[in-house]
Amino acid sequence: MTQDAQSIPRVALITGATSGIGLASARLLAEQGHRVFIGARSAENVTATVKELREEGLDVDGSVVDVRDSAAVTAFVQAAVDRFGTIDVLVNNAGRSGGGVTADIADELWDDVIDTNLNSVFRLTKEVLNTGGMRHKDRGRIINIASTAGKQGVVLGAPYSASKHGVVGFTKALGNELAPTGITVNAVCPGYVETPMAQRVRQGYAAAYDTDEDTILAKFRSKIPLGRYSTPEEVAGLVGYLASDTAGSITAQALNVCGGLGNF
Ligand SMILES: NC(=O)c1ccc[n+]([C@@H]2O[C@H](COP(=O)([O-])OP(=O)(O)OC[C@H]3O[C@@H](n4cnc5c(N)ncnc54)[C@H](OP(=O)(O)O)[C@@H]3O)[C@@H](O)[C@H]2O)c1
Repeated sequence: MTQDAQSIPRVALITGATSGIGLASARLLAEQGHRVFIGARSAENVTATVKELREEGLDVDGSVVDVRDSAAVTAFVQAAVDRFGTIDVLVNNAGRSGGGVTADIADELWDDVIDTNLNSVFRLTKEVLNTGGMRHKDRGRIINIASTAGKQGVVLGAPYSASKHGVVGFTKALGNELAPTGITVNAVCPGYVETPMAQRVRQGYAAAYDTDEDTILAKFRSKIPLGRYSTPEEVAGLVGYLASDTAGSITAQALNVCGGLGNF
């Protein structure tokens, strides 16, 4: 698949693109013809991912960023602009799981989940609109990786669910605000997707319910009408579509990729 007809390659910025959904999205957007700038906290993983994608013939670069750090986010967006030019597509993907029995949740855990998953989306979006130059364009794409947990409550996942509901609310408000400008804002809501994060989530539930991970896996699979986890590539497919010109009239939406898990 190629990028929509145009002469200058579009620039895409993706957080958390060294693993799982972010990595699959970076690869697809680059295959579509975007110049893709990636970020994550591990310098080693950023370097290895850039190398891997370049060896596939893709136009990718990146730098370290912690999305919880405003100064780091500013430097990250500036680095992308210096390398590839102003930003056409932002994918807010970096995120973490986190929860437990709500009455026992440490304040620090609550704050970190909200900061990583929700505050970061505001932080990156504002920076890309300003430093990234998107607010001066007549076409842009902001794609936030939320979750079906952003539409329904997840037991033992109050901070995660709250953060992702926040991302969906932010998406709807900003989508309506920017609709007249040609910048679309949408949330992609994965259900269960097989990634390192999904493994950590299963470990957490196995410990909480005093059982093993295979039992948790079977329990989760049985809740999914499709009978299996989605793949990172299936989620990336929607990201790639939302980045296209054809998706220009889709904005302020929260769209599920979840094997039928969410009917909302
Ligand atoms: N997997 C699922 O079942 C599922 C379902 C619904 C929604 N989601 C959402 O999809 C997104 C991606 O999840 P995934 O499953 O692909 O996770 P993953 O495989 O664990 O990858 C997470 C990525 O985010 C980066 N990251 C984490 N914290 C960061 C921070 N503070 N600053 C910058 N980068 C950070 C990680 O790199 P470093 O650790 O090096 O920073 C890594 O590149 C998340 O927002 C998650 O909530 C996942």
